[in-house]
Amino acid sequence: MVQTDLNENSNMVKVLHKSMSKLETVKINEVKQETPTIKSFYLDKDIDAKPGQFVMLWVPGVDEFPVALSRIHGKCSLTVKAIGKGTEALHRMTAGDTLGIRGPYGNGYTLDERDTLVVIGGYGGASILPAVDELNRQGVNVKVALGAACDEELLFADELSLISDVALCTDDGSVGKHCMVTELAMGMFDDVEQVLTCGPEKMMKKTVDICMERGIPVQASLERYMKCGMGLCDSCSIDGLQVCVDGPVFTGEQLSKVNEFGKFERDPTGRRTSI
Ligand SMILES: Cc1cc2nc3c(=O)[nH]c(=O)nc-3n(C[C@H](O)[C@H](O)[C@H](O)COP(=O)(O)OP(=O)(O)OC[C@H]3O[C@@H](n4cnc5c(N)ncnc54)[C@H](O)[C@@H]3O)c2cc1C
Ligand code: FES
Repeated sequence: MVQTDLNENSNMVKVLHKSMSKLETVKINEVKQETPTIKSFYLDKDIDAKPGQFVMLWVPGVDEFPVALSRIHGKCSLTVKAIGKGTEALHRMTAGDTLGIRGPYGNGYTLDERDTLVVIGGYGGASILPAVDELNRQGVNVKVALGAACDEELLFADELSLISDVALCTDDGSVGKHCMVTELAMGMFDDVEQVLTCGPEKMMKKTVDICMERGIPVQASLERYMKCGMGLCDSCSIDGLQVCVDGPVFTGEQLSKVNEFGKFERDPTGRRTSI
């Protein structure tokens, strides 16, 4: 019995070591200011990933945190909003600087060839742009409801307009409809066969609830505090699911059984806090 445990531990250490040793260094090729608070960092390396997957990004000497792959085909990029010490340090980096990445991790979106509505709030477009790109390549009709605080913070409005039908809204009414993005989306459900959403969690909860009521398949990409990114530390757990490996993309059916969705998250110590 003891021997079995030792063997299991030793196998686990080997698996862990193999996964951890996948940290790769990449160089920033180009930095693009997308909005006053959001920048895209184009990398000098292609990453073979599915839309909706993420990497653990190491900003040398500062921190490691999860970031979605915002562009996959051609020039690979990460698109990040500056909100704290790690993301602000990243925003100070320029072309030629070096980053560390592990991954890609997570499941990504399941993209069926069906008329699609995409509901995006805040920097949610960072995760969902490659999904819209992929659906467009498949010839699928895609409508996008894109919301932000104000005109200047609408992420990827021009890029999304090239590959989908985009409707805009802002919290301050500076452009598009003066409303929340869920209200904008309410008028866009005709003929929709699947919904994808990414953004503030209360917005996604509302979107998922509307889709479940209408019987429309929906997928939402969640964020939780992540340390390992690969199912080892449990810091990202949400009602028994691990967001890093079981998600970050979850279906409406899965989320309807998750009591914490839209209500609670966990801080770095694991303590439950209200969203
Ligand atoms: C799967 C996933 C994909 C993400 N993709 C993007 C993206 O494409 N673009 C983007 O701008 N942001 C993305 N985020 C959020 C991003 O990880 C946080 O904004 C970032 O970690 C903040 O780090 P900080 O040091 O600047 O902030 P801090 O000052 O350390 O913390 C500010 C807040 O950021 C969040 N945060 C901090 N560290 C982590 C962590 N290790 N894991 C999760 N959340 C954390 C917490 O809510 C915290 O309260 C993603 C998060 C997840 C879980
Ligand atoms: S981040 Fe460690 S288990 Fe998900």
